[in-house]
Amino acid sequence: MHVHNMAITSHITGVGATMALLVCILVFICKAQAATPAVYILGDSLLDVGNNNYLPLSLLKANFPHNGVDFPTGKPTGRFSNGQNAADFLVKKIGLPTPPSYLSLSSATPPITGVNLASGGAGIFEETGGFLVSTFKGLLKTLYGLGARKLVVSGVGAVGCCPIKRKENRTGECNVEINYWSTKYNDGLKIMLEGLKAEPLGMNYAYSDTYGAMVDLFQNHEAYGYSEIKEACCGIGNLKADGPCIPLATYCSNRTNHVFWDLYHPTETIASLFAGYLYSGSQQFMVPMNVEQLLAL
Ligand SMILES: *[C@@H]1O[C@H](CO)[C@@H](O)[C@H](O)[C@H]1NC(C)=O
Ligand SMILES: *[C@@H]1O[C@H](CO)[C@@H](O)[C@H](O)[C@H]1NC(C)=O
Repeated sequence: MHVHNMAITSHITGVGATMALLVCILVFICKAQAATPAVYILGDSLLDVGNNNYLPLSLLKANFPHNGVDFPTGKPTGRFSNGQNAADFLVKKIGLPTPPSYLSLSSATPPITGVNLASGGAGIFEETGGFLVSTFKGLLKTLYGLGARKLVVSGVGAVGCCPIKRKENRTGECNVEINYWSTKYNDGLKIMLEGLKAEPLGMNYAYSDTYGAMVDLFQNHEAYGYSEIKEACCGIGNLKADGPCIPLATYCSNRTNHVFWDLYHPTETIASLFAGYLYSGSQQFMVPMNVEQLLAL
């Protein structure tokens, strides 16, 4: 029943979302009596393991080539990635199998180790971009009511540096205005989380500074081993960002030197890097603690 409620939340937040493609929210619900903690992932296309395949009206699907080209099966899975995504890597580090996507479960199948509610295009931004953080706070309180006590919340990344935004600039630079609003949003998010923790609810959280981690990556990309930080690997046209990664698009031969897989989403190796930050990263990007420390509380 709880899972059902959360799925509805995910659907509602998915409606009208326009730009929140780099937001992710991971929610851990640890029931006192449960032997293993269940992991519930509520987020967007960065974390989607196939929910959109089941949404008949969704235009944001990824269950076609060339997505999945580096997945163990070599086949598209619904992830917007050449392989696995950050949710896959993080959940593996925690020691749980990748949760199935919620919509692939029949009502008769109880989710044992959690469920993934991420859905491409989901977000907590309304179309106007107003009242953003307080909406999110309401959502977190709802999740608290459902039993969530440990939250893993990722800040918004440097959205202005996605290929779809870089292509608007003649020299492929980041869109500074969008990045400014991303940092503003994150500032509000951090204040909200501190406030939530200060309330006598027993909530704890791990916040990841995805924006800072992305800026660090772009500034030191050679040291990280990435020669291509602007152009998407798979797509069409300018910076391969004039169109999504559809079967007609071409994709790069070397996926490990590209930061971006498609016009919005990172490559598998970048997803793995960021999952590593989430799980065991230092306070440079994880405040006040990382996921490993959060789970040990
Ligand atoms: C491209 O980005 C740079 C750096 O932000 C900015 O100074 C310049 O005005 C932009 N050019 C265009 C055409 O948007
Ligand atoms: C792909 O790029 C990585 C990182 O730059 C490099 O180490 C590797 O040799 C490249 N692979 C091929 C086949 O060119």
